[in-house]
Amino acid sequence: LLVLLPVTSIASVRSPGGAGTELIRDDFPLDFIFGSGTSAYQVEGAAAEDGRTPSVWDTGAHAGKVANGSTADITCDGYHKYKDDIKLMKELGLKGYRFSISWSRLIPKGRGDVNPKGLQFYNDFINELIGNGIQPHVTLFHYDLPQALEDEYQGWLSPKIVDDFTAYADVCFKEFGDRVSYWTTLNEPNFLALAGYDTGIFPPFRCSSRFGRNCSIGDSTLEPYIVGYHCILAHAEVATLYRRKYQVIQKGFIGLNVFVYHFTSLTNSTRDVAAAQRAYDFYTGWFVNPLVNGDYPSTMKERTGNKMPSFSVYQSEYIKGSFDFLGVNHYATVWVSDVSSDNSSTYERDFGFDMSVKLTVFGMQGMLEHFKNVYGNPPIYIHENGYSTPQNSSLEDTPRVEYLKMNIGSLLDAVRNGSNARGYFTWSFLDVFELNDGYQSSFGLYHVDFEDKELTRRPKLSARWYSHFLKGGHNNI
Ligand code: NOJ
Repeated sequence: LLVLLPVTSIASVRSPGGAGTELIRDDFPLDFIFGSGTSAYQVEGAAAEDGRTPSVWDTGAHAGKVANGSTADITCDGYHKYKDDIKLMKELGLKGYRFSISWSRLIPKGRGDVNPKGLQFYNDFINELIGNGIQPHVTLFHYDLPQALEDEYQGWLSPKIVDDFTAYADVCFKEFGDRVSYWTTLNEPNFLALAGYDTGIFPPFRCSSRFGRNCSIGDSTLEPYIVGYHCILAHAEVATLYRRKYQVIQKGFIGLNVFVYHFTSLTNSTRDVAAAQRAYDFYTGWFVNPLVNGDYPSTMKERTGNKMPSFSVYQSEYIKGSFDFLGVNHYATVWVSDVSSDNSSTYERDFGFDMSVKLTVFGMQGMLEHFKNVYGNPPIYIHENGYSTPQNSSLEDTPRVEYLKMNIGSLLDAVRNGSNARGYFTWSFLDVFELNDGYQSSFGLYHVDFEDKELTRRPKLSARWYSHFLKGGHNNI
């Protein structure tokens, strides 16, 4: 999805660890975890195998909504190839792996009966990771809602989603929680609300007519906020369940993931500076402020009038503090300018800002400083950070290596400056099916040959560089 953004340049490339020194893993605290990740729909394949039913992404891809009509029916075939993949992870030196569970593989109807084969798969997968010394970091929902629930009550648009998501999470905690210590409820609910219900580029492809795209007509002024509200309630319900029923025994941690840019103002004008602050509130604060302070950011409430469903006093208390960590997907920096005079009434216009996206040497640190200064420095895992190149481009992916160096370098600056960041996962471990782009663009450390029946994995230069970094510069690249 990142390629949709007008990424204009890599501002400059950091020399790793400062002039003349090499950036190495031991620059970070010993318990800082380094890993990589994927998500179920994007990597597993086996879409109709062993009792799995379609998710909204299967349906969307089959309806031709993805570039070149691609689907993830097979993709990397991670469902069958996971043992070999975990071997590669171990060789690479990953200590953590972030993946998600396919809800419709585990509970094919979205609620009710558990699919024994789905259960078996995730048990085997988790055991294999642990057997290879790799810590599982599990996301419960990564965009792939069971189609059954979309059909029944329009998924995230209905409050009914809260109970079904909680029942699904309960199964996961009960079955896997003896071995999984890091749970993320939702991946990027802020982007789900925007892409699924405003711009209409992600399932369920709802947007207002102004986009003139091939999407179902929704109400962009309201639906993203309704979806956001249900996501926050669902997160809080699941976090509370985990804490009450499982955490004391299983001793794990639970958090929410959000998509985050670092926002900076285009000029020093008061209006642009306020717009940059507002941008942080509209993107990040929308979800993080309720979790930290029990309500939406005041700038958002002011600008949206009564459009955002409000939290009752009880809900607000319930949501507040419902996390042990936050996961963030960070890719780029955005220069923000004020356009609040544009008063068309769509959700995006509520923001009142224009954005220009760039890759910078300071964005990672800037974003983490924001969490430190505004939200009291909560524990943070960088759940995604990565660089997209056209599929089948050179295995000598120098730009990706430079991107990783500058982001890990900036992360180190943040940690040295007191950020509570606890871990870093590159996106993605393999070239996977990319949301929207299919196989046109890829983020992987390993190339996957999608033309070849074997789906051969080949290390890119970035895999070698990351491995070299993780192993303290002692292995050969
Ligand atoms: C965000 C999403 O979580 C992930 O699924 C996607 O592939 C990457 N970013 C890259 O666009």
